[in-house]
Amino acid sequence: MTFQIAKLSTGTKTKMYDDLAAQLRSLLEGEHDFIANAANFSSLLYHSLPNLNWAGFYLNKGCELVLGPFQGKPACVRIELGKGVCGTAAEQRQTILVDNVHDFPGHIACDTASNSEIVVPIVKNQRLIGVLDLDSPLFGRFDDEDAKGLNGLAEIFVDSMV
Ligand code: SME
Repeated sequence: MTFQIAKLSTGTKTKMYDDLAAQLRSLLEGEHDFIANAANFSSLLYHSLPNLNWAGFYLNKGCELVLGPFQGKPACVRIELGKGVCGTAAEQRQTILVDNVHDFPGHIACDTASNSEIVVPIVKNQRLIGVLDLDSPLFGRFDDEDAKGLNGLAEIFVDSMV
């Protein structure tokens, strides 16, 4: 299989996420392997969205999150539920936007280049699967439109799980 990552439209963020949704559907079509789809999803995000230094998953292993497929520099492996941005988003099952990670109490610094972050919980049938984590070297890189767009992409990913 050859998959070409298409250039995203330069219009509104909504349009950009619509383009990404179409690409993600096509990338995951007919494939239900969780690790393969999570790996390709993180690669699509990392290579499509501007100004990211990390994109990937932490997976729910009971009382902690464990590093899953990702793109970027090597990262911390285990995060307790309720700790850091990832553990907080997982515990609250809510998307968390952090404009300046240095101001977030308990932020876990995996890559010193990161200045802002967004974490989206991945939930299927009320079960917490893990979180999708994106980091940026820019302050305030993520906004509500990113949160909406990424939640939409997360739904497409969840639908690919059997
Ligand atoms: N900053 C995250 C840890 C994961 S790395 O960003 C890849 C946190 O505070 O949970």
